[in-house]
Formats: sequence, structure tokens, C-alpha cells
Amino acid sequence: MNRIFSQTLVAAAALGVTAFAQAADVKIGLAAALSGGAGQYGAAIRNGFQLAAEELNAAGGVNGNTIKLVIEDEQGKKEEAINVFKKLIFQDKVVLVFGPTLSNSAQAADPIAQAAQTPVFGTSNTADGITSIGNFVFRNSVTEADVLPETIRVAAKHNGVKKVAVLYGNDDVFTKSGYDNFKKALEDLKIPVTTTETFAKGDVDFKAQLTKIKASNPDAVVLSALIAEGGPIMVQARQLGLNVPFIGGNGMNSVKIFELAKDKADGLWVGSPWSIENNTAENSKFIAAYKAKYNVAPDQFAAQAYDAMHIVAGALKTIKISGNLQADRKALQAALPAIKVTGATGAFQFRQAKGAGGKPGGYDAVQTPIVMVTRGGKYVIEK
Ligand code: ALA
Repeated sequence: MNRIFSQTLVAAAALGVTAFAQAADVKIGLAAALSGGAGQYGAAIRNGFQLAAEELNAAGGVNGNTIKLVIEDEQGKKEEAINVFKKLIFQDKVVLVFGPTLSNSAQAADPIAQAAQTPVFGTSNTADGITSIGNFVFRNSVTEADVLPETIRVAAKHNGVKKVAVLYGNDDVFTKSGYDNFKKALEDLKIPVTTTETFAKGDVDFKAQLTKIKASNPDAVVLSALIAEGGPIMVQARQLGLNVPFIGGNGMNSVKIFELAKDKADGLWVGSPWSIENNTAENSKFIAAYKAKYNVAPDQFAAQAYDAMHIVAGALKTIKISGNLQADRKALQAALPAIKVTGATGAFQFRQAKGAGGKPGGYDAVQTPIVMVTRGGKYVIEK
């Protein structure tokens, strides 16, 4: 160790700046659902982060510091998300937490990050209200409120939809929020609802609801579900001869649908800023790198994670990492809102959300959704 550096370390220790000696690593937490029903999302999310972190580190990291991801499985459960957040924030002392995967967990765990003045960044939380928790809460996942009206508009236009049935999970923050936003969009578009049916997390048999829906003779089914229930719902609908298009929210936009529903996966309409069929230079580079590393195609959960890592790296490059953890967390929180990038998911910037109780809110994504339909085992972009 050279003399000046060792003297600086002594001075830093005297000031209580303990993290200085580790300044070569920027520790970033990732709380993802790597097991359970939401595990499919979490695996893609982890892959997206690891790819981006490797690329950034290979290019010199952030101002010479190496990005070190600390990854924990929060199992898609809110109690586990709370535990994992506490570990990442208070034990691992990360500068920011990415995740958790589900809005249901984010609503429970994000207040811990807000209270600890630690930036938290969701890449898949699309329910209303998450960013109202406070100004340390960020997300680049476009909300159901922003995406669903466009998905319904395009799907209705292509399928001559005059009336729809609605099916949603009534015990999950995301699926309930999706329902609220579907309802509003249908009212705005003056599309009547033939029947509204519900299910709960963990249900496996949806035939009773689907039989009622079929009898109500809709032109399409609007579905607010996570993929663990949404996949079997599509399969059982087709088995019952309910062959109308399905219009889904973010939870249904997973390549897992092709595995779960196989030849019954056709006719599912979803919206997202990211599509595998979108051939921009940034997206093509991402898709090629992802396929080379993982030997599978990415989905939008991977793309959102990949872009989020670049957004945070962009913010980290604008601040000086002092080694004082709370100062660094605060500096990162202050730098993030101004970051604009063009990544795999296209042009991105933040807008500030309204905070709860008159306090400053967090930051939502401003991005343009692309509408797609599943056809022959692929996503096809429609306008
Ligand atoms: N978009 C889903 C959620 O917010 C995964 O829970």
C-alpha cells in the first residue's frame, strides 16, 4: 500500500468513515423472487442485472469502483421481502436495493427502505401507489395505469371487441390494481362488462369462473393475474372452448406463458415498453448479449432489470462515493431523478409521483408502451 493511501485510510478511520477501505466495491442489493410462483420473473430479473453489472464492470465500473450485487431470494412473499430488505440495508449496508419482484411485497417492504433513507428501485412493480411511499422509492416498470388503456385500445380495435368479461385475483396488490385500472379504461372506452369473476393466489382450478364467463358470451377476457395463475387460466379457458382473445397486464407478459400454455398460448394481448421484436440498436445488443450468456431469450423482466442497472450506474457516475454510507445513499437518491437513458426498453426518464400525506413522492417511469399479441409461440407487435 502506498504511503499517501495508507495515511488517508488512517485519517478516514479517525473520522469514522469505515467504508472507505471498501470504496473499490459499490454494494447494491437485489431482492428478487427466485423461488415460488413468481420465480420465473425473478430468474429473468437476476439475469438482467448480472449481465448489466458484468458489462459495466468490464468497462471500468463506476468511476473506477466495481459494482457488487448482493442477491437475496425474497420468494415472492411480503414477509420474506421485509426480512431481505432488513438484511441488505442494515447488515450488508448496500447503497441501494433493487426489487422486490411483486408489488404486493413492495408495498410491505419499501417503507423500510424509505425509513432508512436508502434508495429502493423496483423493476417489475406496476401497481398503483408504490411510489407514493416516499421519495427514496423509484421504479422503471411502467404502471398498469399507463399501459392498460393502450393495450385494451389496440386489442379491441384488432378484434372488434364490443363487450368483455373481467377475471382478476382479489388478494394481491398488483392484480387488484390491474383490475381497478382495467375497469377505468373500459369505462373510458365505453366497453361494457358481461361479468366480473375473481380468484385467489394459489388457486389451480378456474373452471367455475371460466364457465360463467363463457356463458356471458364476451368478445374478449380481460385478465389481471400473475403468471402462476394466468397460465393455467388460459389453458383451462381453451379446454372449455372459450377461444376469445385474452387481454392481460404486466403479470401476463412473461415468456413462461409459452411453456405453461404451449399451443394454447395464442391470442394473449399485453403491453410493455419492451418487445423482443423491437429492433433498436440498444435492444438488439441487449438481446444478443443475453442469449450468448444464458442460452435463452430474454423477456421484459430481464430487459427492465438490465436498464435499471444502467440507470443507477448513470447516477452513481455523477456522484462522488465518499465512503459515508448514509451520505452516499442520499447523494444517489438526489442524483437519480435527473437520469435519462436510452436502453433496451427505449428512451427512459423519471417523473415524480404524488407522496402520501402531502410528503414528497417517489419516481415513476415515463415510457411508451408497445402492444403485442402471442401468435404461433411468438410475440407479434400490433398498433
Ligand atoms: N407487475 C407485477 C407486480 O407488480 C409483477 O406485482
